[in-house]
Amino acid sequence: MRVINPDHRLIAHKLTYLRDERTDSPTFRRLAEELMTLLAYEATREVRVEPFEIRTPVAPTTGIKLSNPKPLVVPILRAGLGMLEGMVRLLPSAEVGFLGMQRDEETLEAVTYANRLPDDLSGRQVYLLDPMLATGGSMADAVRYLAERGADDITCVCLLAAPEGISALEDSVAALDIPVTLVTGSIDERLNEVGYIVPGLGDAGDRLYGVV
Ligand code: PRP
Ligand code: URA
Repeated sequence: MRVINPDHRLIAHKLTYLRDERTDSPTFRRLAEELMTLLAYEATREVRVEPFEIRTPVAPTTGIKLSNPKPLVVPILRAGLGMLEGMVRLLPSAEVGFLGMQRDEETLEAVTYANRLPDDLSGRQVYLLDPMLATGGSMADAVRYLAERGADDITCVCLLAAPEGISALEDSVAALDIPVTLVTGSIDERLNEVGYIVPGLGDAGDRLYGVV
């Protein structure tokens, strides 16, 4: 698995305010979207394209356009929804599917409670969005599920990742024979005893949408 952690001051600056416990929900939502857009620049570096002829006012030339089938963007509900706008702003022609997953806070196991995806993902390039990679259980399950349906290139995008989660995801995707890339805004220090990322930002879903 390729891991990309862009070294960019604007990402570090926005992450600082995202982490700050004084940041309110509207600001948190705006920052999550802006961070996604910055990470999308890296995440889509190898988006599939094909050549395409145009004429400028001066001369003909060859450009590129996104290939078909278009990339599929899949936010993992709930918190991944906070990254969706930031991604589709850069990739407006992408299709969007949804996976609802919730971590059992006792066992830290991920449970899938909703799924709205094309049945057949053969040949699809997929971008999976979730702000937090903690134990890695949710992302690993999601990657496996998409690969079983035929996705042949998966890029996971998160805002923060714990080293434990990166290792777990690496181990899990090693069994798959498709390229998997992780793009993360930060690699934090560790997980704490209840599976939260340290220093982290707390519960991303609650900070985006309130406590349910
Ligand atoms: C959070 C987060 C990830 C998961 C990460 O979601 O958005 O999906 O936990 O933890 P893991 O790497 O240990 O699996 P949560 O289950 O709290 O649901 P929510 O998005 O609805 O708040
Ligand atoms: N989920 C979150 O929202 N935050 C963490 O730190 C870990 C899992």
